[in-house]
Amino acid sequence: MQETSVCRICDGVVTAFIDLGKQPLSDRFASPSDSSPEPFFRLAVGSCSSCTMVQLLEEMPRESMFHEDYPYHSSGSSWMREHFTATAQRFIDTELTGSDPFIVELGCNDGVMLSTIARAGIRHLGVEPSGGVADVAAGHGVRVRKDFFEESTAAGILTDDGHADVIFAANTLCHIPYMASVLRGVATLLAPGGVFVFEDPYFGDIVRKTSFDQIYDEHFYFFTARSVQEMAARFGLELVDVERLPVHGGEVRYTLARAGARQPTAAVAELLAEEGAARLTERETLEGFTRSVLQIRDDLVALLRELKAAGKTVAGYGATAKSATVLNFCGIDSELISYVSDTTPAKQGRVTPGSHIPVVPPSVFADGYPDYAVLFAWNHKEEILAKEQAFQRSGGRWIGYVPEVHVI
Ligand code: SAM
Ligand code: TMP
Ligand code: ZN
Repeated sequence: MQETSVCRICDGVVTAFIDLGKQPLSDRFASPSDSSPEPFFRLAVGSCSSCTMVQLLEEMPRESMFHEDYPYHSSGSSWMREHFTATAQRFIDTELTGSDPFIVELGCNDGVMLSTIARAGIRHLGVEPSGGVADVAAGHGVRVRKDFFEESTAAGILTDDGHADVIFAANTLCHIPYMASVLRGVATLLAPGGVFVFEDPYFGDIVRKTSFDQIYDEHFYFFTARSVQEMAARFGLELVDVERLPVHGGEVRYTLARAGARQPTAAVAELLAEEGAARLTERETLEGFTRSVLQIRDDLVALLRELKAAGKTVAGYGATAKSATVLNFCGIDSELISYVSDTTPAKQGRVTPGSHIPVVPPSVFADGYPDYAVLFAWNHKEEILAKEQAFQRSGGRWIGYVPEVHVI
């Protein structure tokens, strides 16, 4: 029998469609000498038969994921820096034109978006529970509250600063299982004519690309226009716009307003129709996705074993949270991939979660290129292939696994 859980949005029945097995915390990079036991949980995903929300069946404690040493720094990618500078500029030109406007960002991380807002002298607040990245944001002139956003936080902000014209969250809302508390907080804090804008990996793109590595502990929800529309309605909010984004392998930026406050754009109806035609959250589609994932696992492991038998050297590129799912689901360890190169200082000198492959700085990669490199940071492919042309000139080949295993 398929496993079920209770939907975190509507209390409906969530039925699992994929089980990626025992997985570690995807951003826990332990030092090689650390002998403390590593926490694992079972990574299974299901969809709700009532509201269609796709979600994890098990939740990890939030403090185990988001803490002082949370290693992900948003500004690590130049493409993402440009994306968020443009996002901030768009808010400045559209929603923040009134007198003394106020914008709140959930999960502002190192200030990649709010630093532009701060430089423009606009009233703002970042809510960020991970102390290390919050300090970096503060160092860039961003006003930060070190906290988890939820209903009580929203009430505190309302008392201190008044209503927000914009509440923004990038790659953060899908990380928060306790959605009712967050959306009650949003409904409290939002100005009558304000907007709640959030962008997260789009489940339509995940299915289309079989990008199963978007599934890990921090990604609790996988949104669609349909599930977001249903979710919003439960909290007096309404989905009024959607925009496809090319970042992180395909995202959607959703705009919510108070119910009835704004006319929904044609893009909302179009995306809803597209999802309906694709039967996006129906059983056959979900089971087809699972079959494709198993195929990728088998092909990737077979390729890596073949290369090892042929005496080739293989590295990984980008110690992404996504790679934790791939490595642990496929059972890949340092026998098959000798190291993973990553630009993040907090990950270097550590080992990958669960699979314990050493993480090294890019200088090690450049200092004697391997024959092959598995591109775990495939969502930054353009940026990486452009800057690593010497690797290919040296005869090195990239291995990709989205939407299927291939060698470039
Ligand atoms: N917005 C940045 C971006 O798009 O690159 C950061 C995304 S990062 C993957 C997710 C961030 O959400 C982390 O910095 C984490 O600390 C933060 N976070 C997690 N739970 C949160 C909550 N309840 N309220 C506010 N931020 C939260
Ligand atoms: P992300 O896919 O969650 O954004 O994580 C990207 C990871 O890849 C992060 O640890 C930084 C690393 N990275 C590199 O090592 N080199 C690069 O050129 C880029 C863009 C990212
Ligand atoms: Zn539901």
